[in-house]
Amino acid sequence: MHEKALTRWQRGWSASRGWTDYQQVDDVTVVRVGEPERRVEYVATEANATAAAHLALTDSNPPGTSWLAITTDNPDRLAADLKPVEALRTEWLMTISLAEQASYPVPPPYSLELSTTPSIIDAQICGYGEVAATGRMAVLHTGAVADLITTDPAHRRRGLARALMTALAQATPTPAAYLSASSHGRPLYESLGWTTITPLLVARTSTSY
Ligand SMILES: CC(C)(COP(=O)(O)OP(=O)(O)OC[C@H]1O[C@@H](n2cnc3c(N)ncnc32)[C@H](O)[C@@H]1OP(=O)(O)O)[C@@H](O)C(=O)NCCC(=O)NCCS
Repeated sequence: MHEKALTRWQRGWSASRGWTDYQQVDDVTVVRVGEPERRVEYVATEANATAAAHLALTDSNPPGTSWLAITTDNPDRLAADLKPVEALRTEWLMTISLAEQASYPVPPPYSLELSTTPSIIDAQICGYGEVAATGRMAVLHTGAVADLITTDPAHRRRGLARALMTALAQATPTPAAYLSASSHGRPLYESLGWTTITPLLVARTSTSY
């Protein structure tokens, strides 16, 4: 279940972050991230959670640097099953047909800037001499993926993130989009018409064993 959406999200997320070195091992997607605190990311559905945890617990990375993202209907049960891998938080895999996303203008006195390459659209909203909100859409033929959507705390609840999502959607040529929402982001995306496909448990190897 959810395999196709998970794969589409992972492809776009990897493109957004520049983590383009990945391969399939036993139905687990192994993304070689290569960052000091995050050496590798194992992405899988719950059916393959045990295989993903085994890979994380037996790789050669320092404790705490192998991460997992696992779709599950029951994050609490999966968190218990994955031990000694440490569950960090639950996110939500979401999708939308971009033509159906609600549209909102950039509120004055803020202004929008877009910069695009064939595969990445970056948006930022500035105002009061500051960068107030930023976000990105990775554009792949399998679907676009929104990532790194952030509004500076001093500028929140003024409609900047929804204006940013509007601009990203309008600049995206593919019909469908995916994202993994934080607990902060989920109400925003729901208000724009995105639907939740499944919870996604974020975990990593523990530093305490
Ligand atoms: C999530 C985040 C980007 C929202 O930015 P924002 O500019 O404040 O959002 P907007 O003002 O455009 O909100 C639009 C709508 O989304 C919903 N919404 C946004 N933040 C919300 C919150 N904290 N609680 C409930 N609803 C919220 C509301 O419906 C809101 O409309 P309203 O203010 O008229 O009620 C911002 O809180 C943030 O940067 N959080 C930390 C980083 C993060 O979690 N990013 C999301 C990653 S997936």
